[in-house]
Amino acid sequence: MKLYGNIIGWGKYIPSRVITNADLEKTIDTSDEWIVTRTGIRERHVVGDDENTSQMSIAAAREALERAGVRPKDLDLIIVATSSPDYLTPPISSQVQHGLGAKTIGAFTLVTGCTGFVYALSTAQQFIASGACKTVLVVGAELLSRFVDWNDRETCVLFGDGAGAVVIQATDVPSGVLSFVLGSDGAGGEHLILPGGGAANPPSHKNLDDGLHSLKMNGREVFKFATRVLGKALRQAIQQAGLQTEDIDLFIPHQANIRIIESAAQFANLPPEKVFVNIQKYGNTSAASIPIALCEAFEEGRAKIGDTLAFVAFGAGLTWAAAIVKVAENVKPAPKPRWQNFFTEWLARDHNLSRFGNYATPNAPSSEPKEEKTRQSG
Ligand code: ACO
Repeated sequence: MKLYGNIIGWGKYIPSRVITNADLEKTIDTSDEWIVTRTGIRERHVVGDDENTSQMSIAAAREALERAGVRPKDLDLIIVATSSPDYLTPPISSQVQHGLGAKTIGAFTLVTGCTGFVYALSTAQQFIASGACKTVLVVGAELLSRFVDWNDRETCVLFGDGAGAVVIQATDVPSGVLSFVLGSDGAGGEHLILPGGGAANPPSHKNLDDGLHSLKMNGREVFKFATRVLGKALRQAIQQAGLQTEDIDLFIPHQANIRIIESAAQFANLPPEKVFVNIQKYGNTSAASIPIALCEAFEEGRAKIGDTLAFVAFGAGLTWAAAIVKVAENVKPAPKPRWQNFFTEWLARDHNLSRFGNYATPNAPSSEPKEEKTRQSG
């Protein structure tokens, strides 16, 4: 039996602090008009002092788990895609596993810049398809506001913070990642680089003074690269899924620049009404941008169960990634015999099991799934 990783839950976390283009006009030599016409961005959300990437990841994951009706302890694997973890070590994926109160399952962090979520989702799909895992949490989270130079107008206007997550679960119904295209061309690595903090340029007073600890970008080169690879990757993924452009219900691209999105959609012959855009509100949230957009697409009714979606992203590396994803119904299992329900409820009431499983991280918004509502047959 072939196994597919259906997306059965999605969630997001957006920090509440907003920086508008008008705010930036006060601190750097820029204008709302320049930013909107060149990028499509009107405002971005950034974290407060008490927020960090793991907390955003946990909050988004909890929402996704709740929507899926899956308890953290039922997860088999966690993958967190980010380039801005809390620490170089320990890996943020273990922080998320612990913070959610998941079992001591496998958890790893995947670093491919803005393409991270699509890479992670395609990877998760392999664990499901092989039969190794039944239920996988995939998070895309980014906190770039602490890594941009807020005096560098060429980068700081572009980025925002946030996290998005999905729960995927094994099913024999064709769904989940139907095809994917992953690419990388390290020759262009210098065009989008955070030179300091790693082994090449470890923290030092000199490296700090030289500004190596903030993101450097050659916007024009990244722009050219993106317009070259995105449309092509999207078309390849559609073909590999054995589909036509008309079969795509909604195109959810990485939200980096409205002009790049429009060019990719045009290349693949996707009409504007099939393109989801929320860059005006959040800017580029890197690995979080596609899962956040996916959540909003569902919330706004632009994406529906049964739809075939196209994800495409580009980013640091330089890398690119596209995936065609079908969202199938989250099939409920046959109802349990009544005596079994009584027994489960009695156990939960008398033994207060949450005492043992919940290691919520301080400050993380609490929305622990209360009970397992729907389970997918697998
Ligand atoms: N406000 C006003 N003027 C600006 C600003 C700003 N914020 N930023 C740059 N300019 C100026 C430049 O200095 C330049 O001035 P000059 O002509 O006097 O030299 C002029 O505007 C035009 O600059 P360009 O770089 O040609 O502008 P462009 O139209 O290419 O837009 C942009 C720049 C928005 C950065 C674009 O190149 C872009 O979006 N590139 C892709 C960037 C991207 O997506 N990066 C994220 C990658 S994903 C990841 O993994 C993190």
